[in-house]
Amino acid sequence: HRFWLVVPAAGIGQRMQSAVPKQYLTLADRFVLDVTLSRLLAASTWAGCVVPLHPDDQWWPRSESAADSRIETCPGGAERVDSVMAALRYLEGRAGKDDWVLVHDVARPCIHSDDLHRLRAELAAGTTGGLLAAPVSDTIKQVVPGSGYISGTADRRQLWRAFTPQMFRYGDLLPALENGVGKYRGAITDESSAMELAGWQPRVVPGRTDNIKITVPEDLALAEFILARQDA
Ligand code: C5P
Repeated sequence: HRFWLVVPAAGIGQRMQSAVPKQYLTLADRFVLDVTLSRLLAASTWAGCVVPLHPDDQWWPRSESAADSRIETCPGGAERVDSVMAALRYLEGRAGKDDWVLVHDVARPCIHSDDLHRLRAELAAGTTGGLLAAPVSDTIKQVVPGSGYISGTADRRQLWRAFTPQMFRYGDLLPALENGVGKYRGAITDESSAMELAGWQPRVVPGRTDNIKITVPEDLALAEFILARQDA
């Protein structure tokens, strides 16, 4: 079976307090998006790579990735899940139902090729798919919204942090996302949540904790440090 890559990059990054979406901020003298895409494409061979972009995106033509013939773009949607569905529909007629799709956030530029290879190897041996994740190290409190009062402490031994890539079969993922957003839109924050709600049992594959998501401006300096250390 073949492996496809979907890299949602249609967000506008409201949490970055910046006029520039986070995928176009500078990381080691490049766009975050160029770092992420070049690392993914260099790590493996892919049947194709689709990047959903915001319809008003003005930066893409200036990226290194725009000149890379392995990458195709399509219009994204209102939320991450809409952008991923748009990319999957874009592949209709090309991706086979048993082909694997790896969905990776453009905002995770530190993805390591070892993690990518381990994810593909471990999950391709099964049928459902899964994601890179790591056990939580903090104690997690449940707090009554808006009040500051704790209502409980979760059992940490059962909790993992979900990263990307998330890897599922094309023919299973698109219907799971479509049905999931129809019924429980707010609960679909990643591909796996849609698969879980559709009755599948995805697996976690332990991943590196330096696979961080750029969320606030400070994360750029941290990512730069991680990339320099990985190369060392
Ligand atoms: O903002 P957040 O970090 O949750 O975004 C996660 C990923 O989803 C990012 O790669 C972002 O570009 C993407 N996204 C998207 N379409 C949206 C919103 C977010 O492709 N409408």
